[in-house]
Amino acid sequence: MQKYCFTEEGSFLLNQPDQISCLYFPLANMAGVMSSITPELSGDSKTSQNTFLLSPVSSEDLHNNKSSRNFWCKINHTSIWSVTGKSAWQQAKKFSKDKEETQLEAGFLWHKVTRISKAFGLKGVITSFVPTSHDKVELMKVELTNIGLEAITLEPVAAIPLYCRSADNIRDHRHVTSLLHRIEVLDRGIIVNPTLTFDEKGHKINEIVYGVLGGNGNVLPSKFYPTVDAFIGEGGSFENPRALQDDSLKPMKSGDKINGYEAFGGLCFEEVVLQPGESKVYIIALGYGNSKEDFILYGEKYLSEEAYNKAFEEMKAYWKDQLNVRFKTGDEKFNHWMHWVTLQPILRRIYGCSFLPHHDYGKGGRGWRDLWQDCLALLLMDPGEVRTLLKENFQGVRMDGTNATIIGKNRGEFIADRNNITRVWMDHGVWPLITTHLYIQQSGDIEFLLEKVPYFKDMQGVRGEQKDSLWEEEQGKLCLTKDNKPYLGSILEHLLMQHLTAFYDVGEHNHIRLRGADWNDALDMARDKGESVTFTALYGSNLETLADLIEVLKNKGFATIELAKEMEVLIGNEDAYGDCKKKQSILMEYCLSTKHKISGDTISIPAKALVKTLKGMGQFIKEHIRNTEWISDGKDAFWFNGYYDNLGQRVEGVHPLGVRMMLPSQVFTIMSGTATDEQVKAITKAVDQYLYAREIGGYRLNTDFREVNLNLGRMFGFAYGHKENGAVFCHMAVMYAYALYSRGFVKEGFKVIDALYSHSMDFEKSRIYPGIPEYFDGKGRGMYHYLTGAASWLMLTLIHQVFGIVGKMGDLTFKPRLLKSQFNEKHRAGISFDFAERHFYVEYVNEEGLDYGEYRVIKIEGNLGEDFIEDSFIIKRKVIESLPKNKNYKIIVTLGK
Ligand code: G1P
Repeated sequence: MQKYCFTEEGSFLLNQPDQISCLYFPLANMAGVMSSITPELSGDSKTSQNTFLLSPVSSEDLHNNKSSRNFWCKINHTSIWSVTGKSAWQQAKKFSKDKEETQLEAGFLWHKVTRISKAFGLKGVITSFVPTSHDKVELMKVELTNIGLEAITLEPVAAIPLYCRSADNIRDHRHVTSLLHRIEVLDRGIIVNPTLTFDEKGHKINEIVYGVLGGNGNVLPSKFYPTVDAFIGEGGSFENPRALQDDSLKPMKSGDKINGYEAFGGLCFEEVVLQPGESKVYIIALGYGNSKEDFILYGEKYLSEEAYNKAFEEMKAYWKDQLNVRFKTGDEKFNHWMHWVTLQPILRRIYGCSFLPHHDYGKGGRGWRDLWQDCLALLLMDPGEVRTLLKENFQGVRMDGTNATIIGKNRGEFIADRNNITRVWMDHGVWPLITTHLYIQQSGDIEFLLEKVPYFKDMQGVRGEQKDSLWEEEQGKLCLTKDNKPYLGSILEHLLMQHLTAFYDVGEHNHIRLRGADWNDALDMARDKGESVTFTALYGSNLETLADLIEVLKNKGFATIELAKEMEVLIGNEDAYGDCKKKQSILMEYCLSTKHKISGDTISIPAKALVKTLKGMGQFIKEHIRNTEWISDGKDAFWFNGYYDNLGQRVEGVHPLGVRMMLPSQVFTIMSGTATDEQVKAITKAVDQYLYAREIGGYRLNTDFREVNLNLGRMFGFAYGHKENGAVFCHMAVMYAYALYSRGFVKEGFKVIDALYSHSMDFEKSRIYPGIPEYFDGKGRGMYHYLTGAASWLMLTLIHQVFGIVGKMGDLTFKPRLLKSQFNEKHRAGISFDFAERHFYVEYVNEEGLDYGEYRVIKIEGNLGEDFIEDSFIIKRKVIESLPKNKNYKIIVTLGK
């Protein structure tokens, strides 16, 4: 059985990784290099949609991707051997008895493949990583060792096809864009400087150079093949290149130039003789520069073993430092697996939702909800930076409570919609509050709510229903007052705007309209009459959270809350709550009053009255859902209906084609507190009956509707068991676990996480490296690995719910929900994390071996300074802030009866 095993540091070893399809690993840095690499060194590298150094790949290209990194050895003047295994003859032998031995070892953003050729007595090890400096390079160290008994003569050749253009040109003008290439041979490599970025919409002067450099100290390449045809020759291929097999192709030398061809990084090094046991090392740097000089400067400094090793150690230290949340349960494998999960939110920050082989859509950046949910993890890992980040993100909210749909690569950058895309995702309003609430609880920074920021403005208005024909791009992307000044409102006002507008935006069953879709992007065909009960429930609890936060402000002396005058109509209409039509007309009145510009006038509302209104709205929603949406299968299973389709029909329940149930409807009614405890119990039973599939990772997203439902969404076009149609979709499954834990259903929550973890780690079935994928398909294969919101939510669930490390208005509190089985053999479980800019390790000690429900916190001690006096098992903010920052603090929390 093929499986990987962890080393002490959390890196892992996997034998014969080349026998598994679709494995890919990320290599990246904060400077923007985004590479993907497979066990045969396929994959690609880019810094954006328009700047791919290596030709862009989708998952289906991975088993056919010859045009990527390769490194050849011409052995004893006769045979050619690819250190990556990408030669025609090695591929042909891949499944035979004398296949080559391969092994992968990968750690936090480094990737090392070993390949052994018994036939040649040669071992090749290629270690790849991206330095954590500002340099935009990917480095490969190729180490060749004679493991045989006789001397070997070999000529090493780096062979890397250089694509050097926009991903769009893979089909659109692939040939014509090669005519733009200006290729130059340097002393240590090959550089490509395309003249233009070529695009039918407009041709611009290209400002980026691409290239490959190689060597090791004084060892320089001696011959060069700078174009594809110069290397593969007539009739040749990347797996069978002519240049290495006869003398018909003439190499080029330093200083030569060639224009208008597909570029190639073919660097040949002097022939060497390797005695038995002897090794030789070559460093290859592939990357990007702003100019030729810039690129040479970036790249050349890594071209010695010493410099490479130094950069490698720096990179390891950097990621160790970044991944500062560590778990220590009794299951060592789980701890390592979670370590990899903590890397994933950082990867999504770098790659957005595009740019790994499964993520072959979008042009970079993230969607609105992903942006906010990724901040959850960031808040837990790197809290220092988050305040500004959150503040900047609020600038994406429009005056009608919707938000910018296009999010730029730079922080706080939202792009006006020029393409007339009027899609409004009805769930978007809930995420900013969830993240902001976490931030306030962790930091105690309630005054953050009073910070003022502008609103976003483009041509979209009235929640996607109308266009503001008076708006022109020149007016800018900020909402203006009648005096043409940007209107600044508090963050609290932004949050209220999102929730109050949603509260009134209901369909005929008095739940919030589904509009373009909700969390489930593929529920996108019920624009007119669709409703999402699922997210209405979450808006309900959010309205109550807002009330709680305003209460805190009130207790701090903020007796009134200042709001834009136009918002007055959204407050104080209790009589309208039950009347869908009235609600829509109130909303319309509000939206029209803010459609182009706003007055700039404000009103002051007593905090007390606002608290009452918001609580009333929240309670109204919850009761309405409880009264109208609790359904059954006609037997003994009960759960909540979460949707109405475009015909206004209830979606879930008994249907002639089989019982219909959706997991999100259960997750958010539980998480929001809409479901009573009794109902949660019933839901878990029903979900176990209809959605549980342990063999593919646990809880499916929905039952099989057995029809292409054009009144609900494209998801029903997907085969059942895939992606949004009934796969085990990890993001939702993890949120199910979070919801269950938060309601005290600990064993049930653990079951969800355990199923996801055990399946992810079951390499024979999941076929992914450690971490949590977006979903498991019908056969249990992990799909869309790395870039998923599942990772942030899993971290949050572990920290907040399982370990119960929770900030309460800036104080640190402990409410563990660990099961007995999660402690180690010494009855201990621990977690390290950053809080209030200090690093803590908390160890729960459960000497009596008690289970959840049997223990409670009975003592807290630690090196917390003289000010620390145990007080209701809370560590006060002021105690933490009195501690020096550059020390590690250990807190022992004793559990007992
Ligand atoms: C992805 C998207 C997310 C969306 C979800 C369901 O989820 O990124 O915005 O809500 O699909 O359609 P993820 O893989 O991030 O969990």
